[in-house]
Amino acid sequence: MRALAMGLTVALCACGSPANEPGGGALADGALLGMPEGLPMHAPARFSIGSEAPSDRVAMWDIDAKPDGEGLPMGSGTVAQGRQVFETFCVECHGATGTEGPNDALVGGDEWGEQMPSVRTVGNYWQYSTTLFDYIRRAMPQLTPGLLTSNETYAVIAYLLYLNEIVPEDAVMTAETLAAVEMPARDRFIVDDREGGDGPIR
Ligand code: HEC
Repeated sequence: MRALAMGLTVALCACGSPANEPGGGALADGALLGMPEGLPMHAPARFSIGSEAPSDRVAMWDIDAKPDGEGLPMGSGTVAQGRQVFETFCVECHGATGTEGPNDALVGGDEWGEQMPSVRTVGNYWQYSTTLFDYIRRAMPQLTPGLLTSNETYAVIAYLLYLNEIVPEDAVMTAETLAAVEMPARDRFIVDDREGGDGPIR
């Protein structure tokens, strides 16, 4: 009953209050007031557009990992640890062995023939091992990216590479060892340097 009454109070407060206006700061008053049009509830009142970006904020976005390993953080993880990470955070979408789905297969895939494989995975299609760190840190688990620590990310990569028979079961992934892994599809890609029309085709 009390909860209902509180809900009613909040609902009443929201009507016509200044916080209902765009950028009014829905949470600023500590209550779930109106939703500024087009913005999620947790959007800040102001975005500080036009002000200088502080270096700590820039660092949060500066997380790309390059093919040679530049940009990879400290940390390490084993295949065994990665199995646990995978079974906790990945299995529901990628399947028990990384092949069952319902989302993308991460393991195996068919051979390269005249055409590129129809099932393309980390194992048969990814050119650089370090992309795994960049991508998983940035995007996975799909509904909660950013959840994994660096160690957990290295570990789940070790496990995925092991399932793809690219590294042995006792492999330990670090910035150095990951960058040194040569992916099976390493030489399947060429720089497209054709010229024509208005310039190089990219
Ligand atoms: C809620 C479902 C979900 C979870 C959980 C999830 N993924 Fe994914 N994952 C996806 C979807 C969907 C895609 C395809 C995304 C796209 O194509 O844009 C994907 C794509 C990927 C890919 C790229 C596949 C390719 O070849 O393009 C990798 C690698 C990957 N996930 C790793 C992981 C790892 C590691 C975890 C656990 C830490 C994880 N995912 C958890 C849904 C999920």
